[in-house]
Amino acid sequence: MAIAATEPTSVRSFGPGTALSCRECGQRYELTPKFACEFCFGPLEVAYDFGTVTREEIESGPNNIWRYRSLLPVPTNVAELPNMNPGLTPLVRADRLAAELGFDSLHVKDDSGNPTHSFKDRVVAIAVEAARTFGFTTLSCSSTGNLAGAVGAAAARAGFESCVFIPAGLEEAKVVMAAVYGGKVVAIDGNYDDVNRFCSELIGDPVGEGWGFVNVNLRPYYGEGSKTLAYEIAEQLGWRLPEQIVIPIASGSQLTKIDKGFQELIKLGLVEDRPYKIFGAQATGCSPVAKAWEEGHDVIQPVKPDTIAKSLAIGNPADGPYVLDIAKRTGGSVEHVGDDEVVDAIRLLARTEGVFAETAGGVTTGVLRKLVREGRIDTKAETVVLNTGDGLKTLNAVDAGVTATVKPTLAAFTAAGLA
Ligand SMILES: Cc1ncc(COP(=O)(O)O)c(C=O)c1O
Ligand SMILES: [Zn+2]
Repeated sequence: MAIAATEPTSVRSFGPGTALSCRECGQRYELTPKFACEFCFGPLEVAYDFGTVTREEIESGPNNIWRYRSLLPVPTNVAELPNMNPGLTPLVRADRLAAELGFDSLHVKDDSGNPTHSFKDRVVAIAVEAARTFGFTTLSCSSTGNLAGAVGAAAARAGFESCVFIPAGLEEAKVVMAAVYGGKVVAIDGNYDDVNRFCSELIGDPVGEGWGFVNVNLRPYYGEGSKTLAYEIAEQLGWRLPEQIVIPIASGSQLTKIDKGFQELIKLGLVEDRPYKIFGAQATGCSPVAKAWEEGHDVIQPVKPDTIAKSLAIGNPADGPYVLDIAKRTGGSVEHVGDDEVVDAIRLLARTEGVFAETAGGVTTGVLRKLVREGRIDTKAETVVLNTGDGLKTLNAVDAGVTATVKPTLAAFTAAGLA
């Protein structure tokens, strides 16, 4: 039910969250499992009443995303509830990569260290709290792979049933990770966009009753988890926003929420208000947002994905138009690189910084290098590139193996020219 803008909600288990607000028309709703505006079909997101939040309060919190609980729609005792406790992943000072690409100051935010080895643990952790509050018994999602693993694990820890939906043909590691936690894993004969459409049908059907689809009917809550990447990066830079950041795009939610996180930090006075540029990154084989950017359109023409970057293979990205707005507003852009460049960039990041990225991290690093090559990013500005997943999930993307196989003798080792 729509509520007046000033009317407080009676539900207090959402911490500072006060309402859902339509991104398009501003109409406000109670905090329920609702994701689209009744008036204009715009996406709903959580609105807050933050009060005062200090750096000291955050710094004295737990070493995971719950240190930012006063900026998230979660109960105040969230850190005591059974969940995966993701976050506070390393911001790697990438001096060797910086030297290779010509940057003065470059960092890699390496989110492969989360419990199920991708940034998806952040978004799922928030959705789980919403699912608990709404009394859902089954946790579900449509996924390009990483989300399925994160949902399976979080459901197991928090005591939900789980049933996740993926397109057939995903990387083996992602399928095994999704299945090992004991929930159902359903492969759909189609691409991600078909999976997502099917899940939207399920929530409207008695079959899906009691099911919390983390990225469909719980999407407004789920999306807020990505803000923690913005908070961490700022805190890890010594409470400063980076001047430039490169972010991968699948649905575009992560990019829009990192921007929301930066804006909140500025409004709360937790960081200085200085300009930052956001660059979006896609693989050429699934680059509807980059294509719209190139052609100067503000609508996204859906595509059929064909790329090794399967985690980013969403042909009809829900948040695409907002990504275009943010790139324009901040002075960034949206770029794409081909699969060969993705593989090359995975190797570059591994060789220079010891960070083994999944294909999504190859996309961001590849885009970063392309921007330098084409002189379209400022190499003097403080820059962050995201690695959102672990290379062990996409092993087949890279061809790497032993240097040589030799007998266990010094003679054999030297004869092979290895000494
Ligand atoms: C590893 C990885 N990085 C980035 C993304 C992009 O997420 P979003 O849909 O928020 O754009 C995904 C989405 O599945 C992912 O798996
Ligand atoms: Zn609306």
